[in-house]
Amino acid sequence: MPATKESISRAVSPKDGPVAVTGASGYIGSWIVEDLLDQGYETRACVRDRSRPEKVDHLVELGEDPAYRGQLELCEGDLNEQGSYDDAFRDCSAVIHAGAAVGYNRETPQEVYDGCFTEVTHVLESAINGGSLRRFVFTSSFAAVGHPRPQGYVFTEKDWCGDNVEGYRGRWTEEQIPRNRDIAYAMAKANTERMIYKRAEEAGTFDAMAILPLHVIGPLMCANHDQGWSWQNCMRYMMQGKPYKKSAGGRMLWNCVDVRDTARAHRLAAESTIGTNGSRYILSAADRSGELYTWELQQLLYDLYPNVDLIGGEEMEGEEPAQPTYESPRSYCLLAKQELGLDSYPIEETVRDTIDSYYALGILDS
Ligand SMILES: NC(=O)c1ccc[n+]([C@@H]2O[C@H](COP(=O)([O-])OP(=O)(O)OC[C@H]3O[C@@H](n4cnc5c(N)ncnc54)[C@H](OP(=O)(O)O)[C@@H]3O)[C@@H](O)[C@H]2O)c1
Repeated sequence: MPATKESISRAVSPKDGPVAVTGASGYIGSWIVEDLLDQGYETRACVRDRSRPEKVDHLVELGEDPAYRGQLELCEGDLNEQGSYDDAFRDCSAVIHAGAAVGYNRETPQEVYDGCFTEVTHVLESAINGGSLRRFVFTSSFAAVGHPRPQGYVFTEKDWCGDNVEGYRGRWTEEQIPRNRDIAYAMAKANTERMIYKRAEEAGTFDAMAILPLHVIGPLMCANHDQGWSWQNCMRYMMQGKPYKKSAGGRMLWNCVDVRDTARAHRLAAESTIGTNGSRYILSAADRSGELYTWELQQLLYDLYPNVDLIGGEEMEGEEPAQPTYESPRSYCLLAKQELGLDSYPIEETVRDTIDSYYALGILDS
């Protein structure tokens, strides 16, 4: 849908007031904060607890950088508490919601689903209460798009995870939510997206948009970004000579996007005069070069780090993968390039900067 006059007028710039970020201590949130500062925004970085040095010191350091002095305010808020962000979001032109409390802990699938709604509702209410909201940008996930499809199918923003696809391996339904964590996560992201677009349409005063990242990798800003479930953590294990274990036989199509590109896309969405309420942007490989089978990623790591003797990967038979990998998910961040003007890091740089950041943080021994 083309942007309306109202929507164009809602595009934000630094002169329109502060921009707030939830999940600011997190992997993606931290890079969103850095990008906003870099672009001259007064930035309210919302963390759960300012007294946790391992989670906030890198943000404090950013705020003390002479280039950004006076631009950063560290605020506190809890996604589970209604009204928790009312103060932090006051007079903000845009709110970027990159925080997430549920998803990778020990919740039941139903808790994953319900938790996502509760959190997004709390954040959106506070954003509206702030009184100046023009753009609300939600970190959804490619999970809200992907669903069982034949090999090689190229997903776009028109796809939704609950799509009924001519019975191909069955449709994902709400009835499956309590039984399957992945479906619960995907449906939660998709349905909260629908909820924010509807709420924005009803309000008529702001646009809601979503960023849908796939396999996010790229440099870590602090050791706490090495979360056990994350893709970057899997790469660390591979660099330690351990096989990739998240999928059967280590076989996976890594569809990689740089965390810095992911971060920038959030700000570009808030600034866009083309994007409008309901705009959603997949953040994935820019082209085929960013889609790597596990064995290709392993080979790239060997090429970049020739001094490392053993790097893990998938099951091989000699020089060849033991079994072919199911060719999915294929997808490219073309809309983000077209509408947001996003430029992407080459995959080699992303992979190298990921591993170099592990060395620099002392999490990997060189
Ligand atoms: N990484 C990926 O590959 C990927 C791919 C697709 C989508 N996403 C989505 O991107 C978003 C961010 O992911 P990420 O990789 O940056 O994860 P992350 O590093 O774990 O960041 C999550 C953030 O949420 C905050 N948070 C957790 N519980 C909270 C609570 N109760 N109140 C306030 N803040 C809370 C965390 O704060 P603390 O530091 O205090 O824990 C942290 O700042 C998530 O919505 C995720 O679903 C990520």
